[in-house]
Amino acid sequence: MEWWHNSQIIFRSHWTLSHVRVLSLPNSQDIPAAESVEELKLVAISALENSSTSEELEVWRVDFIGRKGKLTSLLRGLGSLAVDDRRVVGAAANRLRGELEGLFEKRIAVVNSSSAPLGSIDVTLPGRKPASGGLHPSTQMIREITQAFNEMGFQTVEGPEVELERYNFDMLNIPQNHPARDMFDTFWVDSEKDDLLLRTHTSPVQARVMEANDPPIRVVVPGKCYRYEATDATHEWQFNQIEGLAVDEGITFADLKGTLYEFARRIFGPSQKVRFRCDFFPFVEPGVDMSIEWKGNWLEIMGAGMVHPKVLENAGYDSDKYTGFAFGMGPERISMLKNEITDIRHFFSNDLRFLSQF
Ligand code: DAH
Repeated sequence: MEWWHNSQIIFRSHWTLSHVRVLSLPNSQDIPAAESVEELKLVAISALENSSTSEELEVWRVDFIGRKGKLTSLLRGLGSLAVDDRRVVGAAANRLRGELEGLFEKRIAVVNSSSAPLGSIDVTLPGRKPASGGLHPSTQMIREITQAFNEMGFQTVEGPEVELERYNFDMLNIPQNHPARDMFDTFWVDSEKDDLLLRTHTSPVQARVMEANDPPIRVVVPGKCYRYEATDATHEWQFNQIEGLAVDEGITFADLKGTLYEFARRIFGPSQKVRFRCDFFPFVEPGVDMSIEWKGNWLEIMGAGMVHPKVLENAGYDSDKYTGFAFGMGPERISMLKNEITDIRHFFSNDLRFLSQF
């Protein structure tokens, strides 16, 4: 079937429209009676609009405005027209060529802009969300806890993880051969004087802070600690602690209880119950452990006590004038309670299935 048969069927409705001026060409073998500049225009525009790839556009160009295209063959047929008709139809056909070439260029621009070249970025697509990391669950817990104390007037400070034996033990009233040293299975660092270790707790920073500052002191000290011990669900060879220290004139055990009670309410909720029981740590007197009521059980969450006079004296403080309280807790343990984590080893195993839950 020739193209004009097709187009006649498609555009039959247009023939009846009064504004469509039908310029009929005389019957000939090449150009049927119904053929006209106007008809060609309608067919060409419709076909152009249906061309949506550059390949289809090229087919259209060859077919309609190419050297052997329909417009050319229409112009060739002019020879058989009367001179007057020839002039009118010829002028109309040349206008159509200009019009179609213009539309063709526009269409190409539209098609090219909507089909992005290979490897380019389509800026109209919704953006891709960058993969973002998050804070480690230990860090999150440390920040929550230190912030609670910060709001109560405690300043956050830090100390070295590779520590002198003096600060880790001696200054804290744990002398050589004191049985309390057995509690701390220590990683010793090879050094000239054999006095370097990986700190076993954050308590040495108490001594460092007191040595470098005069009272009043209110600090919280988060940081990594190390113990040479077998690991299991509740023991790791590395873990964090948060130490606390308040020293001033007139600090009493009531201040210790009030502060730690308020801490528990801020972390676990306003109706949290706490319990203090006697415990022993060489650097406090009296010493306690604090438990929270958790799902029907009492769970120990920290050690605390009034700073031992000897610890104050070791740092150069007058223990008749100054008193203080200290405390130490493990943020991983608190995170385990709050987030129902059953194995402390998850914190440092670097498994994204665990870490990405926080
Ligand atoms: N340093 C102790 C430990 O690692 C925890 C501790 C207990 C810290 C009592 C304190 C304290 O400041 O008063 O087990």
